[in-house]
Amino acid sequence: MYEKFIKKYAPTKDNLIYILHEIQDNHPQQYVSEEAVQEVSEYLKVSPAHIYGVLTFYTMFSTKPRGKNIIRLCESPPCFLRGSEQILKKLKESLDVKIGETTKDGLFTLELCACLGVCGNAPVMMINEDVYGDLTEKKVEKIINDIKGRQE
Ligand code: FES
Repeated sequence: MYEKFIKKYAPTKDNLIYILHEIQDNHPQQYVSEEAVQEVSEYLKVSPAHIYGVLTFYTMFSTKPRGKNIIRLCESPPCFLRGSEQILKKLKESLDVKIGETTKDGLFTLELCACLGVCGNAPVMMINEDVYGDLTEKKVEKIINDIKGRQE
């Protein structure tokens, strides 16, 4: 099932991270399944335990199904000092999830991350590849509603 993503890369261990990215980015639920780990393990001749070690070491990988839109709120000090905690509270309330959870409709997963490199616009979050800065509770509500509106 994952062959077309896996075989884009030569069967060398150095390609493990690239292959895992490829699989995760192409999965509608943005994660690396047990089945995918098995296929990669056979292709690269590395143990599933080694692959899981890599998957759990890097926070960008997930072994659990996630939402269509992954929200990553920066929790580093500059964002924290400019109110990321309030933004987190707002996100949890609006989406009715805790950190690491996915909304019931499968639209959003809420995660925390370290500095996104745009501290001048703190507090900051990323949703998939898009960065949103100078966040306020009102702005968060609008962003979430806009994305919901686009899915309908
Ligand atoms: S600390 Fe949040 S973007 Fe740098």
